[in-house]
Amino acid sequence: MLEGKKILLGISGSIAAYKIAALTRLFVKAGAEVKVVMSESAKAFVSPLTLSTLSKNPVYSNFTEGNQGEWVNHVELGLWADYFIIAPLSASTLSKMAHGNCDNLLLACYLSARCSVIVAPAMDLDMFAHAATQQNLKTIAGYGNLIIEPKHGELASGLVGVGRMAEPEEIFDFVLNQVQHQAVFKGKKVLITAGPTYEAIDPVRFIGNHSSGKMGFALAQVFANMGAEVTLIAGPCNLSLEHNLITRINVLSAESMLAEVINHYSKADIIIMAAAVADYTPATKSSVKIKKQADDMKIELVQTKDILKEIGQLKTDKQILVGFALETDNEVANALKKLKAKNLDFIVLNSLRNAQTGFGFDTNQIQIIEKNGAITPFDLKLKEDVAKDIAHKIREMSHV
Ligand code: CTP
Repeated sequence: MLEGKKILLGISGSIAAYKIAALTRLFVKAGAEVKVVMSESAKAFVSPLTLSTLSKNPVYSNFTEGNQGEWVNHVELGLWADYFIIAPLSASTLSKMAHGNCDNLLLACYLSARCSVIVAPAMDLDMFAHAATQQNLKTIAGYGNLIIEPKHGELASGLVGVGRMAEPEEIFDFVLNQVQHQAVFKGKKVLITAGPTYEAIDPVRFIGNHSSGKMGFALAQVFANMGAEVTLIAGPCNLSLEHNLITRINVLSAESMLAEVINHYSKADIIIMAAAVADYTPATKSSVKIKKQADDMKIELVQTKDILKEIGQLKTDKQILVGFALETDNEVANALKKLKAKNLDFIVLNSLRNAQTGFGFDTNQIQIIEKNGAITPFDLKLKEDVAKDIAHKIREMSHV
């Protein structure tokens, strides 16, 4: 599975750096090509000669190398890698990664890498437990980096606690798992809609809804992590996503969302409509700001096109189409009606009865209702885990 994979190992200054010699061997034995970039302080813990001998490649640590001061192209190294593993990750390198600092070659490679970045922190227990470290870990996880949690054990200081870098075998298995995971939807194209739509009344006012976009963005992230090429058509929301397999297209209104979906649906293998699309839009949109009148005012609304229903009529048998239903009463019956009317393969039902679900929450509780009437209920989970359940259901259906 790792044969021919290009692994860039980034070593920062920590006593655990000596273990990277064993990790290098594991990757080389598995048929991967390994290159090493290390910070200046890492050299005090493991010699570049050991690593270049084991990896059969030069070890990089400065922007210039050799007598002639040749330039080391960090962009090329960053682009070369299929996986960039930063282990051990010191508190200092972590902090720089979180803030986009670039004062050494390892960090320049990190900032220019387009591949999955996996980090294995190693530090003393109090440093690891410090609020700043925990915040930095959250920040880099938010950038899409994967974290191999440090373990509990005896630390170099003699203290006992959480901070030991995961063992080389564990890091190797994590990467292997990741490679397998990323192969699940490899070559598949997924189209996802997310967030609300804003229907303009005039240049300054609109009709919108409380959708945060979190569910659709979680789906985009999960599918991209599983190797799919994702097109995310997003209504206005304050969320960001960094993934080289995700193309984000921002739209505002139901009409512009429909236009982008029509542009992209035919290339997609899997289409998931998680957006909260407005069902109505003002009949006329004033081109100038509407002035306050002496009387009350009425806005005439006309129906928008149901994007999901349109695609339900256009889709081929090979395409999987998934919709969402947000219901407050007669949930299953209403969801089933939508499933049939919109020609879906399955519908994800969210009930607003659970206090922790719906707009703005990080959690959701769903039931998946299939074409054949089968209903699978799930527990209350983080939206990211709900997205994984949906991806697994699609995997089952499409036998990928
Ligand atoms: N949907 C859509 N285009 C619309 C309205 C809804 O694509 N104009 C999609 C949503 O993305 C969702 C599904 O249809 O996947 C169901 O949305 P929902 O608002 O629950 O259902 P509606 O069909 O609009 O019915 P109602 O609002 O009456 O419950």
